[in-house]
Amino acid sequence: AARRPLMAGNWKLNFDHLQAIAFVQKVAWTLKDAKHDFSDVEVAVFPPFTDLRSVQTLVDADKLELHYGAQDVSQHDSGAHTGEISGQFLSALGCDYVIIGHSERRADHGESDEVVHAKAVASLRHGLTPVICVGETAEDLEQHGASAIPVAQLGAAVAELPKDAELVIAYEPVWAIGSGQAASAEQAEAVCKALREKLAELHGQEQADRTRILYGGSVKAENIAGFMREPNIDGALIGGASLKVDEFCSIARFR
Ligand code: G3H
Repeated sequence: AARRPLMAGNWKLNFDHLQAIAFVQKVAWTLKDAKHDFSDVEVAVFPPFTDLRSVQTLVDADKLELHYGAQDVSQHDSGAHTGEISGQFLSALGCDYVIIGHSERRADHGESDEVVHAKAVASLRHGLTPVICVGETAEDLEQHGASAIPVAQLGAAVAELPKDAELVIAYEPVWAIGSGQAASAEQAEAVCKALREKLAELHGQEQADRTRILYGGSVKAENIAGFMREPNIDGALIGGASLKVDEFCSIARFR
């Protein structure tokens, strides 16, 4: 079965709740004007935690077909964990997704493969689809080639998750993030294919066939079509370009 592409905008640490409302409204209008078919290409935004309630209100009030999620989640559900946000709170705010194991969290907050796995489990426990990020650094690439590290990270993240779980995987070579130097479509396809094969090996062909694998790292309106022509790339995780209304909408409308 064909997988519905997902264009996911990771805002990172940008936009307060008022800017979030203005931005989401503009995206919604632009896509509406373009008669965007959301059943053809799904569009999601990942605002900071403090914006989620505002985005929820807007999406509900205007019945927008836009999906949204958080950029992180706690592995815990409640208790003495200062500063953490539980999956239960996120699903109460209407989130569908949560980004797990972004390289910035792995690097800046020491998130290990074990923590990423625990967060994937916590997401599923609360009905959230984890967007599991994997990717190699420039050094990894030199030492191990492109696929070894992302494939190992995926194996650790999905270990013992249910075979029928809905997952999204995002392949983001760390050297391509925010650098303006995207991987080539061929490079990205080779790793995404290896990731799908790993998922098939661990959880069976059925889950591998239906799981969407995104590419991330300097995706722009001008390079998205090339990635989307590849058979194992089912969308993108977009950072910088997701903060510009027209650019983000052009990416969503790549066809
Ligand atoms: O989550 C998004 C990625 O880290 C990509 O960021 O599009 O700014 O390179 P970028």
